[in-house]
Amino acid sequence: MSQPLEGIKIIDFTHVQAGPACTQLLAWFGADVIKVERPGAGDVTRNQLRHVEGADALYFTMLNSNKRSLTLDTKTKQGKEVLEKLIKESDVMVENFGPGALDRMGFSWEKIQELNPGMVLASVKGFSDGHHYEDLKVYENVAQCAGGAASTTGFWDGPPTVSAAALGDSNTGMHLAIGILTALRHKDKTGRGQKVAVSMQDAVINLCRVKLRDQQRLDAIGYLEEYPQYPHGEFTDVVPRGGNAGGGGQPGWVLKCKGWETDPNAYIYFTIQGHAWAPICKALGKEEWIDDPAYNTARARQDKIMDIFGTIEAWLADKTKFEAVDILRKFDIPCSPVLSMKEISVDKSLRESGTITEVQHPKLGSYLTVGSPIKFSDLQVDIKASPLLGEHTNEVLAGLGYNQQQIAELHDAKAV
Ligand code: COA
Repeated sequence: MSQPLEGIKIIDFTHVQAGPACTQLLAWFGADVIKVERPGAGDVTRNQLRHVEGADALYFTMLNSNKRSLTLDTKTKQGKEVLEKLIKESDVMVENFGPGALDRMGFSWEKIQELNPGMVLASVKGFSDGHHYEDLKVYENVAQCAGGAASTTGFWDGPPTVSAAALGDSNTGMHLAIGILTALRHKDKTGRGQKVAVSMQDAVINLCRVKLRDQQRLDAIGYLEEYPQYPHGEFTDVVPRGGNAGGGGQPGWVLKCKGWETDPNAYIYFTIQGHAWAPICKALGKEEWIDDPAYNTARARQDKIMDIFGTIEAWLADKTKFEAVDILRKFDIPCSPVLSMKEISVDKSLRESGTITEVQHPKLGSYLTVGSPIKFSDLQVDIKASPLLGEHTNEVLAGLGYNQQQIAELHDAKAV
């Protein structure tokens, strides 16, 4: 079956996580993604956090599946010539170098357009062009701090906290993928390429939209009713860290279940949805709360919400997180066990859906990765192993018209 993005050729000048996550997604859907890497070294993540001697690290393999690898030293004259040929034949070039690196390499946006007016040049940077921090290099947690996530995550009596979710890296890559597909659609209509840029700070801010909502509400009325600080605590003039509070209009909290004393993940997330109050009371055996005016509206419950969570925790004390959710689901209560990565790695449903999938790698052996979280009715996404360093160098060069002798010369000149 032909893949939807088949025929789209992408120069993948990305490294670490933000860029590779973007191009991996496009490769899954059929684009020919050619990862361009420095000869002898490659993407730094090939070596980072290795657990099998001599094999690419999981950090690399889990972000570079379904791609081809071309080694190319783009700082040599011959390497630049190869890149020029590649640019002329490609549809998209994706990069997440530090600020100015592509210009210093001799491939400014003007030069790329000269070589190929239809080219879509997609870039990730830490901060957007013209921002007063535009010169900064940025990694994941730096972006979470710059994008408002850290200041609003964690508990009020602790420091700003970063999330384990890659809000700065993979999230930015997903934004960039949407930008690339949009620019390709525009090119279909006009024949013109364009520059697409996503900054990591902006991508984090986009996910912190509701916190900007809260800042404006706080500015206007001085309190935020859904935060644990209300009504018994104090607010300052900035959105506080809300612990595990629900971010929307439905109060929620992480609650202890049987075994929490020894199992760090023996918890569930419990949401008190306004219209589910009666079923919640029934599930807890607290029918007397259903019509009690001290409890039967969201406003009435607000000043005792933590006591209510305490009552639910008492009910949970003799139930495992899985037993609890099995009871609560019958009452239509939005909840979930807090799943550990170990539990996720063996989850039957996630394996069946392909969200967790096993891949064979020639050096690493078998490993788990996260498959496509996007499911299609008419597209089967097969996850293939990431390429070895330079695995496709000769094949790509031959595709560009180089003969055997010219390829050998490029190797001798250490340009590939
Ligand atoms: N051949 C020759 N040179 C190459 C090359 C190749 N195939 N590929 C890369 N290089 C060179 C670049 O030209 C650049 O050289 P220069 O600085 O002399 O001009 C250098 O390698 C790469 O520089 P840089 O990207 O700045 O690497 P770094 O390791 O110092 O910084 C980051 C890493 C991630 C901090 C930085 O790339 C960055 O801020 N990127 C943008 C934001 C981002 O994506 N961050 C998150 C990543 S998860």
